[in-house]
Amino acid sequence: MTTNNYKNWNVRRDDNDILWLEIDKENTNTNVLSKDVLLELEEELNLIKKDLPRGVVFLSGKKNGFIAGADINEFTTFESKEDALIAIQRGHKIMNAIEALKCTTVALIHGHCFGGGLELALACNYRVAEDDPKTKLGLPEVLLGIHPGFGGSFRMIRAAGPMSGMTAMLTGKSYIAKVAKKMGFVDYVVPRRHFINAAESIILKPRTPQKKYQTKNTINKILNHKFIRPLVAKLLTKNVAKKASRVHYPAPYALIDLWVSYYDNPKKMLEEEANSIAKLLVGKTAQNLVRVFKLKEQLKNTGSKVNYEPKHIHVIGGGIMGGDIAIWCALKGFNVTIQDQNHEVLAKVIQRAYKLYKKRLKAPRLIQQALDRLVPDDKGISLPQADIVIEAIFEDIEAKQNLYKDIEPKLKDGAILATNTSSIPLQKLSSVLKSPNRLVGLHFFNPVAMMPLVEIVKTPDTEDDIYNKAASFTKQIDRLPLLVNSTPGFLVNRILMPYLMEAVIMVDEGIPAQLIDKAALEFGMPMGPIELADTVGLDICLHVAEILSESMTISVPSSLTNLVAQKKLGKKTGQGFYTFQKGKPVKSKQEKSTVIPSNISERLILILVNEAVSCLREGVVESEDMVDAGIIFGTGFAPFRGGPLHYTNTRGGDQLLKKLEQLQHTFGDRFKPDDGWSKIFA
Ligand code: NAI
Repeated sequence: MTTNNYKNWNVRRDDNDILWLEIDKENTNTNVLSKDVLLELEEELNLIKKDLPRGVVFLSGKKNGFIAGADINEFTTFESKEDALIAIQRGHKIMNAIEALKCTTVALIHGHCFGGGLELALACNYRVAEDDPKTKLGLPEVLLGIHPGFGGSFRMIRAAGPMSGMTAMLTGKSYIAKVAKKMGFVDYVVPRRHFINAAESIILKPRTPQKKYQTKNTINKILNHKFIRPLVAKLLTKNVAKKASRVHYPAPYALIDLWVSYYDNPKKMLEEEANSIAKLLVGKTAQNLVRVFKLKEQLKNTGSKVNYEPKHIHVIGGGIMGGDIAIWCALKGFNVTIQDQNHEVLAKVIQRAYKLYKKRLKAPRLIQQALDRLVPDDKGISLPQADIVIEAIFEDIEAKQNLYKDIEPKLKDGAILATNTSSIPLQKLSSVLKSPNRLVGLHFFNPVAMMPLVEIVKTPDTEDDIYNKAASFTKQIDRLPLLVNSTPGFLVNRILMPYLMEAVIMVDEGIPAQLIDKAALEFGMPMGPIELADTVGLDICLHVAEILSESMTISVPSSLTNLVAQKKLGKKTGQGFYTFQKGKPVKSKQEKSTVIPSNISERLILILVNEAVSCLREGVVESEDMVDAGIIFGTGFAPFRGGPLHYTNTRGGDQLLKKLEQLQHTFGDRFKPDDGWSKIFA
């Protein structure tokens, strides 16, 4: 019998006196715990308390999963910490009410179960999760600059113990059901068809929840002891500090502090959790990381208008990029053929594929299936069957043009021809084609398996349909498509190159590489510019810089040219600006502690911001948000700063413009403010 008129919940009390509470948020495909959903739940819990059933089962009416978390859109609506605290306390009250119900409570979890969704499940006595790789559970709040805020920080540790629980919360990782059970925060893993039976048998023959927690293993008890917690916390803090500084990312540190200070007193810990998250929510880091999350969603929506289902991808060029692109596409389920003029290269591609598949897929059957989808084809016999042909041969106009002339007549009708060129304007390449409208850029970044962005490059000739299909395909291989116009360097390399070259100019001036990198790291970059140049390969940096210097005021520093002439190409040769040992740059201890002159970071960041302003003015991408998204996902630009243009807005455009003018005065015209400053930051 359905007994309610809620918009977001279906309630049914059955003959066994079990109450089934199905969340099915109105007008959306995904359940989130927005204010209206929580208010209805609160109302229902009040009714349940007055007329207690034998058990309550939480489940989802959505296909894709249980609950994806809190409503992130509400995170940016709080005007003050007090405002945020009210919302958090409402959540707390509801989760506490679920936990306090004097009947057995069960959460039936399929698909995604993240953040607030998992916190709700943790407030139940039992969690039953579907035995399916698509079912994933996790508390990813740290990735948004906060920590669990509906009581999860306490309840996760209670369920999984401090090591597993803290690891899950500090990394923000999600886990399949079997792993979650091993960690202790899922009780039963069953196929979906057994969900109802499982819930009924738990409720009709329950173990007492109290007893369940008391039998948890003794190691967890010891680690949770008040004298041991500070020692464990020291270790956890040390590990967090390797990845994120307290100043830039306060949330993981706050979470550790909560556990150390209050775990013995759950009520107090929950109160302090609410205070702590309210403060974090209105802080700059969380606000900017929420912005980054939304930018990602915007990118994911690109190309969603077309219905495109390519089956066969043919990649030409099996080097660093072509090989990795082919490997990635086969991993993501496509049938891929790979062609190279040098068949030895193809054997290496298969070896690399095996290594990646073993790491990612683990199960031998899945590894074999992925390998079967990746077929070497040195003569290009499969070319006429391909839906998409991705060219990734040498960065040489003539070589690419000759290849296009040769393959165009063999392409099937409607096939997309894509190039991975990083610096050649597409117009130059498409000029040799009979149908220039079918060429599009699919500019992947190196390493393909790590870099989430793909620039979808178009010329005035590229057909909209091709463009949208390329974006749709990019999404199908789990990468983020960014639409860019074909101008030299597109967006990411054009903005990155002046920054890298400025760093090299500083090396030429005698500033130690390590100090320059340290300045960038302190700003929040994931890797310093000199180490990045060494990692990308100095030959590649030089090549792109030379090409860009034809259209931009970029000067190629002599130390870069010299190192390349000496075949010191960076990480791949073991020597570049740094000496590499076991793949890591050797850094001296002494310079690690040296104080950094402030203008190093100003020079690096302002030259980058100035180029970002220039790209926006020229319309390389469509909006300020897309410039920021490209730089964050294409280079790892300090996400907690929300992107270069957002950072400029936050610091004050006027103030940064003055600094830029001072730099121009001291160092010359490469710092000349772009005309766009007056328009964008007026
Ligand atoms: P690579 O030198 O590692 O590989 C090029 C491969 O193409 C070689 O294996 C070569 O045998 C093959 N090849 C050349 N001409 C061919 C032809 N006519 N038919 C069949 N195979 C042919 O080059 P890499 O680094 O993979 O670059 C490929 C493309 O990707 C270039 O356009 C480059 O600008 C672009 N790119 C490179 C990035 C990088 O970090 N290496 C990053 C993003 C784009």
